[in-house]
Amino acid sequence: MPGADTPHRMWGGRFRQAPDAGLLEFISSFATDHRLLRWDIVASIAHVQMLGAAGIIPASDAAAIADGLRGILADTRAGRVRVEGPYEDVHSFIEAILYQRIGPVAGRMHTARSRNDQVATAFRLYVKEAIIRLVTHTVDLMDETVRRAAGAVEIILPGFTHLQHAQPVRLAHHLLAYVWMLNRDVDRLMDCYRRSNVLPLGSGAVAGVSYPVDRQRVAAALGFARISENSIDATGDRDFAVEVVAGAALLMVHLSRWSEELVLWASDEFGFIALADAVTTGSSLMPQKKNPDPVELIRGRAGRAIGAVAALLTTLKGLPAGYQRDLQEDKEIVFDSLDLVTAAVRAMQRFLTGVEFSATRMEDATRRGLLTATEVADYLARKGMPFREAHQAAGRVVQEALARGMPLWELPLEVYAGITPLFERDILEAVQLAAAVESKRAPGGTAKAAVEGQLDSARLQLETLRAWVRDADGRMADVAALAER
Ligand code: ARG
Repeated sequence: MPGADTPHRMWGGRFRQAPDAGLLEFISSFATDHRLLRWDIVASIAHVQMLGAAGIIPASDAAAIADGLRGILADTRAGRVRVEGPYEDVHSFIEAILYQRIGPVAGRMHTARSRNDQVATAFRLYVKEAIIRLVTHTVDLMDETVRRAAGAVEIILPGFTHLQHAQPVRLAHHLLAYVWMLNRDVDRLMDCYRRSNVLPLGSGAVAGVSYPVDRQRVAAALGFARISENSIDATGDRDFAVEVVAGAALLMVHLSRWSEELVLWASDEFGFIALADAVTTGSSLMPQKKNPDPVELIRGRAGRAIGAVAALLTTLKGLPAGYQRDLQEDKEIVFDSLDLVTAAVRAMQRFLTGVEFSATRMEDATRRGLLTATEVADYLARKGMPFREAHQAAGRVVQEALARGMPLWELPLEVYAGITPLFERDILEAVQLAAAVESKRAPGGTAKAAVEGQLDSARLQLETLRAWVRDADGRMADVAALAER
C-alpha cells in the first residue's frame, strides 16, 4: 500500500499518517467489488472520452487513459495483473494500476467525478447486466415448463387446496401456473431494469460538478435511458438495488414453493413423479435412498434470498440523504442474492429434465371418488336450485358415497334421486372426471381448449420476453465494447 503522500492514492494530501493497515483492511470492499472491475473501466472510458471531447482535459490524455484502462482489463482477464492487494476498493485499484502504467496523466481521469457517482454508475451497470442474465435464465425455465406442459395436457391429477383433494385438473394446467408466476417475476425484473437505467455519473460527490460536462453523451455511451435529476439523490439512492433483490426474492419464493411440491410429489406417499438418477443424491447410510437435494436446496436458499431484502433495507433505513459509507455494503448483498437466485433458476431447469410424471399415480389419486362433488352441486344449480341449497344436497350425496365406500360415479341413481328428484340419469355423466375437467371451459380454466389457449398465450409471451432480452443484451454488448481493444 502506498504511503500517505504517494501520488496515486485517491486521497492523502491532508494526511500526515498512512492509514492504519488493520482499519484499511476493515473498510476495504475490494474482496467484493472487484466484480465491478469491467463496468467501472467501461464507465471511466465513457467519462474520459466525454471530458476529452468537451475540452475539459486534453483529448490526447483522454485517449491515453482509455487505452490504459483497456489494457488493464485485458491484463486482468489474462491473469497478467492479479486483482488483489491492499486497496480500498476496485476504483482505487484501477486508478493505482493506471498510474503505474501511464504516469501522472492518470490523475486526470477523476476530473469532474467522485467515487460516489462513480460507484453508483458501475453498480447500476452491473445490476442491469445481472437482471438481463436472470431474465434470460428464467425465460429458459419458463420455456422448458411450457414444453413439459404441452406434453401433459391429457394427464389428469387432483387439484389441491389446503393440500386436500379439491377438483380434477390437467397436469398442463398445474404446470402452467408456475409459468405465469415466473412471467410476473420477469416482468418485475424488467421494471427494476427500467429504474436502474438512469445515469448517476455527473453528480459528483453530492452537489453536482462545476465542469461543462455532457451527461447526455455519457448516458448514451453507457446505454442509460436517462440521466439522474438530482445529484444528492443519485449518489445516495439504492432503491434500484432493493427492488432487484426483492424481485429476486419473490422469484425464489416461487421456486421454493414449487420445490416443496416436487419434494412431496417425489415421496412414496404421492409418487406423482419419478426422478432420474442424474438429478438426485444417495444416502451415505441408507442404500435405497434417492433424495431430491437440488430442490431441497432451492427451498433452503430461498431463506438467504429473502434475508437479502431485509439486510439491504435495514442498511438503508437510518441513512440521511447523500452518500454514506454504509452504502458500500449494498454490493455483497446484491451479488449474493443475484448469484444464488440465478443459479437456482438454472438448477430448476436442469432438475425438470430429470422429472418423469407418473400419469398412473396421478390418475389413481383422482379415482378415490369424491373429487367431482362440486359437479353435483353445479348440476342442481343448473336445474334451478339456489347454489347454497344445491351445495347442501351435494353434501348429502357425499355422505352416502362415504357410507357406501363408493366413488360418486358408481353411486346408484336411486341414491341420488332419494335426495332430490331433480337428479336424473345424466348426473352419472356429470360426476365423471373427464366431464368435470371439460366443463371448466371459461378462460383460465382447466378444459382442454382453455389449456391450449393458455399454452398459446404462454408461447406468445415467451417470444415477447425473448425479444426484450435480445434488445437489452445487444445494448449491453455495445456498451461493453467500449473497453475492448
Ligand atoms: N467503495 C465505495 C463504495 O462502494 C466507494 C465510494 C467511497 N466513497 C467515499 N467517499 N469514501 O461505496
